[in-house]
Amino acid sequence: MDTLTKRTIHIAQPSTGEEEWQAVKEPIMSGWLTSGPKVREFERLFAERHNVKHAIAVTSCTTALHLALAALDIKAGDEVLVPAFTWVSTANAVLFCGATPVFVDVDPVTFNIDPKEIKKHITARTKAIIPVHLFGLCADIDAIKAVAPDLHIVEDGACAAGSAYKGTPAGGLGDMGCFSFHPRKSVTTGEGGMVTTNDDKLGEKLQILRNHGASVSEEVRHNGPKPYLLPAFEVMGFNYRMTDLQGAMGVVQLGKLDKFIDERNEWTKYYQRELAEVEWLRTPNAPEGYKHGWQSYPCFVDESKAPHSRNDIMEILQKHGIATRPGTHAVHMLDFYAKKYDIKPEDFPGAQACNDFSMAIPLHNLMTREDYEYVVAVIKTIK
Ligand SMILES: Cc1ncc(COP(=O)(O)O)c(C=O)c1O
Repeated sequence: MDTLTKRTIHIAQPSTGEEEWQAVKEPIMSGWLTSGPKVREFERLFAERHNVKHAIAVTSCTTALHLALAALDIKAGDEVLVPAFTWVSTANAVLFCGATPVFVDVDPVTFNIDPKEIKKHITARTKAIIPVHLFGLCADIDAIKAVAPDLHIVEDGACAAGSAYKGTPAGGLGDMGCFSFHPRKSVTTGEGGMVTTNDDKLGEKLQILRNHGASVSEEVRHNGPKPYLLPAFEVMGFNYRMTDLQGAMGVVQLGKLDKFIDERNEWTKYYQRELAEVEWLRTPNAPEGYKHGWQSYPCFVDESKAPHSRNDIMEILQKHGIATRPGTHAVHMLDFYAKKYDIKPEDFPGAQACNDFSMAIPLHNLMTREDYEYVVAVIKTIK
């Protein structure tokens, strides 16, 4: 078959199958469906893999972010710094608390928050910063701590399971770390999230807040000496509990995380080598000292050299069966935020450029050598 014979390649595809299917049978057969032994096992393994003391499983990274900010008592009148180029929920989580998200521009080379841009946005009201490890590349935490030593740090590691910065895994780089197990992430539980922390007090608070504010979990109560007594509720909480079906799936998926990342890492080298001659396309890489989790493969289209606009290139690739996506969106350019805070696209030029010119190309663990060769061959035909 010719390398250019048309095939369909998704931007991402979860790698799930028989093992996940067998794993979810256990809670279904036992009848323990909400957070229970499987969630506990997933939390323990996730904490071990990310070298943190506590991991608290929740329903998504969005709820993980909300829970983390709630555990820090972020409230109306507080400001929280967020990168302007990220998924919308990084900023939404701040609004959930009644606080104000304050955008900070990003570096279009790393797609991450630009530490040089942070200081000018810090005020007496600034309580925390949410560095995003976008696409699996950790934000430059040391540089962030140097310019914002007094701020709480909540990592948005939605894309960063398994990533690391100077030898420390994501999730242990700040006060708390938040992760996503949405199917576009390297490992998935359908929907799902995790909050990590090394702080015992925060760990306990997160447990309580995730479960309506109840002083003990259902599992502890049912297995304890007085299962007939309801727990105390001393604070207002949420129902952000992960189900045991998801926990069972998470245990299996987590066991494959490093294999998935290693495979992706190998193919990113292939892309980088093969696409070097495409002068209008900048491919991503992992700077020295970073372990990239490669949740996706975000390129940057240099329209000053490209034969077509970014969007037209995406259309050409789509016609060849190759899915692409903008890396993510510039949140300050979304109607809701642009109107609410009267922000113009050019107020954050780095994020605007990422919004307009980033282009993720397919990278996932179900792709074959022929799939990668096809993507490269088609990109090289674009003239
Ligand atoms: C940077 C970032 N933060 C937060 C989220 C939200 O994750 P979830 O879908 O698990 O709520 C995503 C999802 O894509 C993301 O990319």
